[in-house]
Amino acid sequence: MYQTSIKNVSFAYAPGDRLILKDINMEVAEGEFVSILGQSGCGKSTLLRLLAGLETLTSGEIQIGGKPVSGASLDRGIVFQDYGLFPWMTAGENILLALRQRFPKRDKKELRGIALRMLDAVGLEPSVYQKLPKELSGGMKQRCAIARAFGIDPPVLLMDEPFGALDAVTRAKLQDLVLELWSRQEPKKTVFFVTHDVDEALLLSSRIFVLGQSPGSVIFQCSLPADRRPTRDTQFEDPELLQLRNTLIRSINQDVAARIAGRSEQ
Ligand SMILES: Nc1ncnc2c1ncn2[C@@H]1O[C@H](COP(=O)(O)OP(=O)(O)O)[C@@H](O)[C@H]1O
Ligand SMILES: [Mg+2]
Repeated sequence: MYQTSIKNVSFAYAPGDRLILKDINMEVAEGEFVSILGQSGCGKSTLLRLLAGLETLTSGEIQIGGKPVSGASLDRGIVFQDYGLFPWMTAGENILLALRQRFPKRDKKELRGIALRMLDAVGLEPSVYQKLPKELSGGMKQRCAIARAFGIDPPVLLMDEPFGALDAVTRAKLQDLVLELWSRQEPKKTVFFVTHDVDEALLLSSRIFVLGQSPGSVIFQCSLPADRRPTRDTQFEDPELLQLRNTLIRSINQDVAARIAGRSEQ
């Protein structure tokens, strides 16, 4: 089982610098879809980078699948807001590069087949394989990044505001796509999804953590069982969900208000 265990994690970018994250604790079961909500600058990306193994903890421990996180690993796929595609490679080559690292023993033809299957799974034409990122729209680039992340099939997927740069319609389509890819797989991937959009978090997540700032720590958390999760049609109707939505917005705003008033330490 790929339990993710974040225990008393604190982090500063340099020794002696101010803590960006303080005493973060999260126990996340395999297959959960976790959203991490919070205002800009509260440390969401930093937490994701720690989960990815791209930064070293100042104190505490992160274990994934029973092993401490140390360095990047193909066990964890990452999708960033800026797509993370190499601009000089075609969309297909970008996906192939990741697949080759993940499946070093398979031949190129087989990997090309997987890449084309993944493009299809994210709703892209096979012709996209030959296109450079600059020839694709933002939504298409993010579909390629999602195809790559699901193609290497990691048990844990880290997504950092993946739809932050997209228009509302494209964003909604890609939210549905990720939810569909995630829910039809068994065992499910554990997803850590960073966003500052409360409605996005409510639509996608089985767990939500709100981070407060200076230093970042968990100020609110909740679970959303699958049968309570809103759909795009019901998201503004269910009174209980609306109450939860208000609570989430309020906890983020209270944190902001406290900082504006200068009550929280810097
Ligand atoms: N490489 C870095 N070196 C030093 N400070 C950083 C670095 N990256 C981010 N920070 C600081 O850490 C804090 C949290 O940043 P970040 O994790 O990017 O927040 P978020 O993703 O929630 O907007 C910010 O104050 C930011 O300025
Ligand atoms: Mg960020």
